[in-house]
Amino acid sequence: MGHFDFGMVGLGVMGRNLLLNMADHDFSVAGLDLDAEKAASLEKEADAKHDIKGTTDAKEFIQLLKKPRAIMLLVPAGKPVDSVINSLLPYLEEGDIMVDGGNSYFEDTNRRVKELNAKGINYFGMGISGGEKGARFGPSMMPGGNENAYDRLRPIFEAVAAKVNGEPCVTYLGSSSAGNYVKMVHNGIEYAIMQLIAETYDVLKRGFNFEDDELQQVFESWNQGELQSYLVEITAAILKKDDDITGKRLVSLISDTAKSKGTGKWTSQNAMDIQAPVPSIDLAVNMRDISKYKEERVQASKTYTWNGDAKDLSNENVTALFKDAFYFAMVTIYAQGMAQLTIASKEFDYGLNLEEVAKIWRGGCIIRAAVLEDFRNAYKANKELPNLLLDKNLAKGLNKHQKAMREVVKIGIDKGIPMSVYGVTLSYFDAYRSETLPTNLIQAQRDYFGAHTYERIDKEGIFHTEW
Ligand code: 6PG
Repeated sequence: MGHFDFGMVGLGVMGRNLLLNMADHDFSVAGLDLDAEKAASLEKEADAKHDIKGTTDAKEFIQLLKKPRAIMLLVPAGKPVDSVINSLLPYLEEGDIMVDGGNSYFEDTNRRVKELNAKGINYFGMGISGGEKGARFGPSMMPGGNENAYDRLRPIFEAVAAKVNGEPCVTYLGSSSAGNYVKMVHNGIEYAIMQLIAETYDVLKRGFNFEDDELQQVFESWNQGELQSYLVEITAAILKKDDDITGKRLVSLISDTAKSKGTGKWTSQNAMDIQAPVPSIDLAVNMRDISKYKEERVQASKTYTWNGDAKDLSNENVTALFKDAFYFAMVTIYAQGMAQLTIASKEFDYGLNLEEVAKIWRGGCIIRAAVLEDFRNAYKANKELPNLLLDKNLAKGLNKHQKAMREVVKIGIDKGIPMSVYGVTLSYFDAYRSETLPTNLIQAQRDYFGAHTYERIDKEGIFHTEW
């Protein structure tokens, strides 16, 4: 029977790259793709050091693999995953393992876990982050599924994952769809941080007339300190790039209408279902949606003008202010996403360990950032920490930068430049740190018009008033 350590279905860029990454780490690998060219091109990579086989035939593919078989699917989320599963099922045997490495919706994974576990197949949903380069040279991987079966996958995944101080950016996260859920929230945080960066770029450019080179330098310098992160790093690189045709900065020639595949929206949708407030992520999704109404925006821009201005600040002072505010916002965004994971873990019985999540997000993934080390330490100090905002060490940094955050939000309001994620992130913070909220009035209103009853602060029980 077969001797190949690992099989990949779907030899697009991600699948191919991850498989080559495994081959570089001395695992023998087989790939299946209906496209004969892709299968052949994978096999061309085989040599004395790399044991690689490509095929277009499902039965042959299964026979190539060592038992219990470890197979990963890297095909588009949705129906393609189900059809690949159905095409392989007749050849699989009890104990075989299937790992869906795409951005699948977590409820789909729950269904597949049930269906396949009933047939004796161990099914995993695993988020993979880091794009094409990550897959080739070290992604962050977020697997969830049957813990016993993970031992078969562990050596391969730990070998190919990104490493931070020698520690691999992969770990078994939890049961059923835990891996897809963690990846979904990863993407929600990704949306919010990207929007935060975009707002910073916008206000510095439109509000303070920063030149392209100055903007680029701002992000480059931020990437050296406490804001060090992949998204800040690539922003600096993007801002430097000239267009080959016009010689202008490429970014200024790109349409301002956003596209998305939907994982950010799923994060917000499910956050609402489980009552986990993540307004910064919600707003980031909203802002991509608003960007789509270009014609209406052009029309409204002529109807509503605003000539307000904020106080005059030197470029140096603005940069310093925004640097502090950015740190504040960044931490508060992660705090929301990670609190969602804590709530989801209870709701769905995932058994997540947030210290481990912070650990595997430190490298390889799109939201990797220096500050993740502090988050890891916060969860190490207190496994039950409900929200990063309650960690004493992080609180020191937030308190230090709180004033800058308020100043920056005021600047956006005065200048009439949308800084929605900055604004809502500060509101989340202010609500979270409010001992009292005006929800007493909302409770009274509900009771007034709908007899929905209310609770009192001075007596036990449920009350209704004839208002
Ligand atoms: C990653 C990315 C990856 C992908 C997103 C883009 O972690 O490597 O998040 O999963 O680039 O799906 O998402 P949108 O198309 O929704 O922006």
